[in-house]
Amino acid sequence: MAARIQPNMKHTAVKRQAWKALESHYKKVSTLDLRRLFAEDPTRGDRMAVEAVGLYLDYSKNRVTDDTLKLLLQLAEESGLPARIDAMFRGEKINITEKRAVLHVALRAPKGASIVVDGEDVVPKVHAVLDKMADFSDRVRSGAWKGHTGKRIRNVVNIGIGGSDLGPVMAYEALKAYSERAMTFRFVSNIDGTDFAEAVRDLDPSETLFIVSSKTFTTLETMTNAHTARTWSLARLGGDQESVAKHFVAVSTNAAEVSKFGIDTANMFEFWDWVGGRYSMDSAIGLSTMVAIGPDHFRAMLDGFHQMDEHFRTTPFGRNLPVLMGLLSVWHNDFFGAQTVAVLPYEQYLKRFPAYLQQLTMESNGKHVTLDGTVVTRQTGPIYWGEPGTNGQHSFYQLIHQGTRLIPCDFIAFAKPLHPLGRHHDMLLANVFAQTEALAFGKTPDEVKAEGTPDWLVPHRVFEGNRPSNTILAERLTPETLGKLVALYEHSVFTQGTIWNIDSFDQWGVELGKVLAQRIIPELESKAEPKLDHDSSTNSLIRRYRKMKEHYEDNRL
Ligand code: F6P
Repeated sequence: MAARIQPNMKHTAVKRQAWKALESHYKKVSTLDLRRLFAEDPTRGDRMAVEAVGLYLDYSKNRVTDDTLKLLLQLAEESGLPARIDAMFRGEKINITEKRAVLHVALRAPKGASIVVDGEDVVPKVHAVLDKMADFSDRVRSGAWKGHTGKRIRNVVNIGIGGSDLGPVMAYEALKAYSERAMTFRFVSNIDGTDFAEAVRDLDPSETLFIVSSKTFTTLETMTNAHTARTWSLARLGGDQESVAKHFVAVSTNAAEVSKFGIDTANMFEFWDWVGGRYSMDSAIGLSTMVAIGPDHFRAMLDGFHQMDEHFRTTPFGRNLPVLMGLLSVWHNDFFGAQTVAVLPYEQYLKRFPAYLQQLTMESNGKHVTLDGTVVTRQTGPIYWGEPGTNGQHSFYQLIHQGTRLIPCDFIAFAKPLHPLGRHHDMLLANVFAQTEALAFGKTPDEVKAEGTPDWLVPHRVFEGNRPSNTILAERLTPETLGKLVALYEHSVFTQGTIWNIDSFDQWGVELGKVLAQRIIPELESKAEPKLDHDSSTNSLIRRYRKMKEHYEDNRL
């Protein structure tokens, strides 16, 4: 049996005074009911709400008292959150396992700001790349950038995976209303050939530009898709290698690999190792976003990010949106044992936002050891998931309302619709408010009985209530608002990681599977029967697959 690393209690969050105080406090308040809390304090809904940089956060429907908040804020102080925030913004190498600074905040620092990494101010470099992206985007959007046959570009296909895909696709979907509708945008990420085949099936290669987005430019999925794209494009453009320069650009930190692929580094948009993949949608990885919405909207999005950064950096924790959201998440996760957080945007354009947040939150805080390598003694990152409202209401909300698990929810809504159609928006928002009300206050057996429900049916129709939620309300979904929202979650993740004392910026957990796949690929492809040395299950699966695949027609390109 594998040896288990032992926890070192000296360094764990549990040891902190505030943590211990929260444990005893939890015993007193865990049975508190939101009905009672609201009845006892008619001002609760106004008091437990904060508005900053245009986002209104109502956190009153969480199972917290003033004392809970006091202790959580104390926990943030004792965990060294102020110093950690400072260290991040100063460019210290807080990603200790990769020895890297964590400076996504520099990507949205305004011109003239200064953030020094290894003796160099990175802000001018950020703006030089932004200007290059803007120039390129303008040329593509205006038709000045021509394809190999002289036609303008009408289709842009981003090839990337993880942070090099989820941010771009989420932002494109979120900001579609601001995008150039005469152009088509597609996103290819999966190594499953279907993804590429479906993305290009109706595209004219002479009008198609591929953006190969990969921080490392070595990721198996992305490089496989990029090579397939190059073959597809060349085959239809007369095989002329020079066409690659007109139909492929790269976004990467790895110039050597970009030129090895055949892309002129003049057509490479740079970013840096201090930008984590899941924190990169506002770097050059956002090139497809900029082409879609134009440089001005992209800069507005960066401004939104920056406003939230400044709020996080400078606002006392009691009024600090990301800090409050992070602490509430720790409270539910570690004290109430909630295993997940549902993110429920009541805005159709945010349909990929929960998927985007899954990488941001779970790749960041899905960790089992603290910074000094000892096993954590409490639960770390919860599972994030969700779907846009109101669709979720007709599917999984049943479990949130009446199931046996506690599922804290983040409701996200906007006061002004992007498509004002009749009564739609009032109805949409009525559902947001109704859901948070139903979750918090439920319906008692007496209330159910009073409606004339027969006794045998009463238990089925009871809603226990007391189910926590946050509501985030903003004026309208704009590029600026999207930037604020993403930064809100980025900093909430950072707050949680700081409390748990883990490295929220590495992702060693994705390595093992990648390495094992590299070993299995030749075993699947070899003509001769390979000598298999896995466990009996994996060996059998490989053998069965080899038999099943036979010699299917290779229908390539
Ligand atoms: O899944 C692991 C990971 O390294 C992510 O962190 C990253 O966003 C993704 O792979 C893609 O990496 P790259 O941009 O280097 O292709």
